[in-house]
Amino acid sequence: MEFEQFVPESYPKDLLDKDWKERKCYCVKGRRDFLCLVHNMFVKNDDVWLVTLPKCGTTWMQELLWLVINNFDFNAAKSEHLEIRTPFLEFEYIVNEDLKTALRPVEMLTSPRLIKSHLPLPLLPAQLWSKLPKLIYVYRDPKDALISQYYFGRSMGFNMDKTLEQFLTEKIESRETECDFDHVTEFYFLRSQPWLYYTSFERMKINLRQIIEDICQFLDRSISEEQMHQMLKHLSFEEMKANTKTNHIWEIEQVRAKHRLPYEDHSFVRKGKVGGFKEELSPEFISRVDSWINKHLMRYNVTLNDLLLLND
Ligand code: A3P
Repeated sequence: MEFEQFVPESYPKDLLDKDWKERKCYCVKGRRDFLCLVHNMFVKNDDVWLVTLPKCGTTWMQELLWLVINNFDFNAAKSEHLEIRTPFLEFEYIVNEDLKTALRPVEMLTSPRLIKSHLPLPLLPAQLWSKLPKLIYVYRDPKDALISQYYFGRSMGFNMDKTLEQFLTEKIESRETECDFDHVTEFYFLRSQPWLYYTSFERMKINLRQIIEDICQFLDRSISEEQMHQMLKHLSFEEMKANTKTNHIWEIEQVRAKHRLPYEDHSFVRKGKVGGFKEELSPEFISRVDSWINKHLMRYNVTLNDLLLLND
């Protein structure tokens, strides 16, 4: 995939003490017009936005949020694909490359809309920063997230010519992946804002009940003990792995149909582990990736454990 630098029409004002001129954003070649469309899109006050880097536990949080917003309607959740109930903003354009229909899945949602995006803060709709609807951000150790991305890619026929170490080497040497540290730190530094709930995959693994309680409070919803019990069961790794509506089958089929590449089968909800990288990478390679992470985080004066909220 080829990338090019992209400068948005404007940057959010008074949000972060940051020199936006220094902030680099890249987009896949051919997506500039789509990003302009997103920049100017209409945001509703009661929208709920879920923003993440890929493979950080988005789907897990998305199912959780959808249920909280929709009054714990487990039957409805089990009868429609998650990505139709709560669309991925960039997906329609990635697959069909038609500006006229690009925002339709989001525009057709009934309110309150739950919208997922992987776009970085400066490329998200400008109205987000004036209307400030509720926004949830989830981060994950990049070593686990990048490995997850490798296997997810292979399930659609990408990365088939690369070993895991080759894939990771390309990632840590690319200027686009460097921007992931801007992606996360921008939201991390905003985490005490009342409109933002910032958490990590690791914290969801440690205490999912607490995260559900926090989210209910954040979205001003109540939950009974019976509903909590059902949530913990429905959101467990085993149930989500077996659930045909939370494995992105609808999206993956469209990508496979578009590219028609030979692929490998990996279920979307795959291993769901914290520190799974230790089973996949040599200690030498882990320390190489850690040095890359630490080198970049030094620029922001934060550690990985800070970003994962493991020091709180
Ligand atoms: P792995 O590939 O490491 O297993 P995203 O939704 O952001 O793409 O993230 C996908 C990752 O979240 C995958 O990680 C997937 O297994 C994990 N995941 C999804 N649901 C989960 C759950 N209920 N419990 C634990 N991990 C889950």
